Amino acid sequence: MNIKNVVVVGAGMMGNALAQVFASNPDLHVTLKTRSLKDDRWQPIENNLDIMIARGAATEQEKKDIMSRIHFETDDAKAYSDADFVIECFPEVMETKQQLLCTIENYCSEKCILATNSSVMSSTEIGSKCKHPERVVGAHFWNPGHLIPLVEVIKSDKTEEWVIDETMELMTSCGKKPVYCKKDVPGFVANRLQHALWREAFYMVENGIADAKTVDDACKYGPGLRWPVMGPMENSDLVSIQLTKNIHDYILPHLADNHEPSKCLQEMLDRGDNGFKTGKGWQEWTPEQIEASNTGLREYLIDYIANQKKKQA
Ligand SMILES: NC(=O)c1ccc[n+]([C@@H]2O[C@H](COP(=O)([O-])OP(=O)(O)OC[C@H]3O[C@@H](n4cnc5c(N)ncnc54)[C@H](O)[C@@H]3O)[C@@H](O)[C@H]2O)c1
Repeated sequence: MNIKNVVVVGAGMMGNALAQVFASNPDLHVTLKTRSLKDDRWQPIENNLDIMIARGAATEQEKKDIMSRIHFETDDAKAYSDADFVIECFPEVMETKQQLLCTIENYCSEKCILATNSSVMSSTEIGSKCKHPERVVGAHFWNPGHLIPLVEVIKSDKTEEWVIDETMELMTSCGKKPVYCKKDVPGFVANRLQHALWREAFYMVENGIADAKTVDDACKYGPGLRWPVMGPMENSDLVSIQLTKNIHDYILPHLADNHEPSKCLQEMLDRGDNGFKTGKGWQEWTPEQIEASNTGLREYLIDYIANQKKKQA
């Protein structure tokens, strides 16, 4: 791999997590490009690592090593001139991201890869103002970025193959599981899958087939247990193509196929219900339940990482 110097731009939620991920690779030097050098700048990364240490997913030595490989920088020239790979974690505003990549191009070498962590925006459009759009690529981490292994590597209409290869290799070298999305489509791969499922889930609640908790339970205690080891394509092969075809002949005409958001979403918003933010959405939530939900997911992910590390040891 040719990448040695990685720059993460924007020290927000994703930027801090990504700096930690890249710094887990001892061969990389990581710069976190930030607006100012605040006294508490290390806090998000330290907090993330301390929680991991408490549950056996990291050690004090790893924390020390990771933090020693990250340095904060405010100056454009100093941050970008030696960069091999820059990933932007700026707010989700198209013009801001386009402008940022153009600024980076003024300082970095022609061989530097410019990646965007945008959740939804087209990497083709983000790179469209660049002098060298062929080195712009999507690299979509999932939140929490330091815990979820998946990174979607998205080819824009212009991205060259070497950029994809280097980006995939970089992610693997940092312990991530990169997947290659060959076309710059809305939702990339994983969000298309996720929102196809959400559409059906909302449809069932809207049509009185099941209540919200039942839909969640049906995922958590059934297919959701299968998904970490078997995705839909392998599962289809397992049950046979013939059975898959027979099932789809029968069931597809009955599944949700709306191209607009569920009308329940607007009705809830009109009532002032906004999920965890207001304590009510599809279900009602107490502050304790909200805390338990957030903590439960984070602990589950950390335990997954701790178990993976044990297996590798
Ligand atoms: N939050 C998520 O769940 C999630 C998941 C995957 C991808 N993303 C994507 O990652 C990107 C960042 O999201 P986030 O949640 O980390 O946002 P955030 O608001 O937490 O972070 C954005 C950071 O950019 C910084 N910034 C803005 N202007 C700057 C400037 N001129 N110089 C230096 N820093 C500047 C802000 O100070 C802030 O720290 C977005 O594109 C988002 O779509 C977010």
